[in-house]
Amino acid sequence: MTSGLTLGIETSCDETAASVVTSDNVVLSSVVSSQVDLHARYGGVVPEVASRAHVGLINPVISQALVEAGIEPKDIDLVAATNGPGLVGSLLIGVSAAKALSLVWGKPYVGVNHLEAHLYSCFLEEPDLELPLVVLLVSGGHTILVSMEKHLEYTILGQTLDDAVGEAYDKVARYLGLGYPGGPVVDQLAETGENKITFPRPMLRDGYDFSFSGLKTAVINYVRNNPDTPIEDIATSFQEAVVEVLTTKARKAAIETKAKGLCIGGGVAANSRLREAIFDICLEDGLHPFVPSRAYCTDNAAMVAATGWRRFLQDGPTLLNTGANPNLKLPEKAHL
Ligand code: KG4
Ligand code: ZN
Repeated sequence: MTSGLTLGIETSCDETAASVVTSDNVVLSSVVSSQVDLHARYGGVVPEVASRAHVGLINPVISQALVEAGIEPKDIDLVAATNGPGLVGSLLIGVSAAKALSLVWGKPYVGVNHLEAHLYSCFLEEPDLELPLVVLLVSGGHTILVSMEKHLEYTILGQTLDDAVGEAYDKVARYLGLGYPGGPVVDQLAETGENKITFPRPMLRDGYDFSFSGLKTAVINYVRNNPDTPIEDIATSFQEAVVEVLTTKARKAAIETKAKGLCIGGGVAANSRLREAIFDICLEDGLHPFVPSRAYCTDNAAMVAATGWRRFLQDGPTLLNTGANPNLKLPEKAHL
């Protein structure tokens, strides 16, 4: 039996990351090289710039992950890389690197779904989390409420009909001239502001789907019509609206599916107010809260390695002629 040492590689967007994780989810190294500064001047990720940066960073990042883990290529049992969804040019850099290493080292390769990896980031720090769980996956590209009844089996309860929540943060921040990515800056400003403006809570009691485009427009229109309002109050009021919508639906889902716990994942799960609110509702409803460390909320390769090992044990290796899929969906449970 192997020790299940997995090298994970993540290049789906603007982070080049590599990590070595054991089969027990012990993270031996997790290296993340962010390209945020490269994209900031454009106000968002430029796909061509991201691909080029991944090409330059991928080998040093992988080498650093091996060095920090204190292991050599011969110790690796599996090479896992995110193969979708994401920017196709960026995905291909990580997938090609993983396949090349798989061939050179004579180790199996497995392609990992980025969304599934975000769901599994909860298990990196708490591997024995009891199922069923409800996971709220909130990132720059996705807002999905998932019921996880068994490992590697999901039911999507709801998702955004328009903007992802991280996208709404980024667009509001861009309008306010706060730079990219907007989430962390708005989060920080919101700490000192007052919740004075009642922005809409879209689809609050209307099923499990989300819509953030109207809220974003309401904030932008408000700022246009009330230019003297302190920016901190805008940030706090916007954030309160977002968090109320997210937590109301997550809470309802956890109760209705009789989940044992409620987890959050994805970049927006790094948000201070959302993290606090999840703890509060879990305490009130007797649910187990799980909120990963901030480093495991935003894109990283430890979640890719851990998910890759699970997938490999269940499905075996991915064929080397399988490419990247920018539109890959979360694999839903088959409905009989
Ligand atoms: O998961 P992630 O790193 O990349 C994607 O797969 O999208 O998420 C990035 C998103 C960005 O929209 C960023 O603004 C948002 O997560 N974000 C936050 C915070 N930190 C990152 N949003 C709100 N509050 C934060 N503290
Ligand atoms: Zn992500």
